[in-house]
Amino acid sequence: MRTYLVINGPNLNMLGRRETGIYGTTTLAEIERLIRDKAGELRVNVRFVQSNHEGVLIDAIHAAAGTTAGIIINPGAFTHYSIALRDALAAVDIPAVEVHLSNIYTREPFRHQSVIAPVCKGQIAGLGAIGYILALEALVALSS
Ligand code: DQA
Repeated sequence: MRTYLVINGPNLNMLGRRETGIYGTTTLAEIERLIRDKAGELRVNVRFVQSNHEGVLIDAIHAAAGTTAGIIINPGAFTHYSIALRDALAAVDIPAVEVHLSNIYTREPFRHQSVIAPVCKGQIAGLGAIGYILALEALVALSS
């Protein structure tokens, strides 16, 4: 069974309580449950990593090499400036989809740029938790 890695970056452990006007009231645990249910339907495995630390996310990406069919990543604020995270994704030969709960293009100008998107297959922004589900469906379809 193919395995997909779902990575959530800084502050996403605060979902449900964090800026609910922007990110809604769904918690990360609830989002992960929705993804696990979809993975069951699609007959694939999913693993989850959330960290507020750049190096932990980089280590998780390196460790995924050779065992992981695709990566779904919401890099949080690292989206906008972490060249190190981008280089980690570029270093492993794993298709990735970048996900954002909010539409980063309707927000502050500093959120309009992603340094991660150029090393991803695609990007989904603004659809809330559904974005993670669509990303998993897309990665499974692309690797079938
Ligand atoms: C986010 C958007 C980022 O700009 C922000 O720093 C986040 C969440 C989103 O999911 O909409 O932490 O990645």
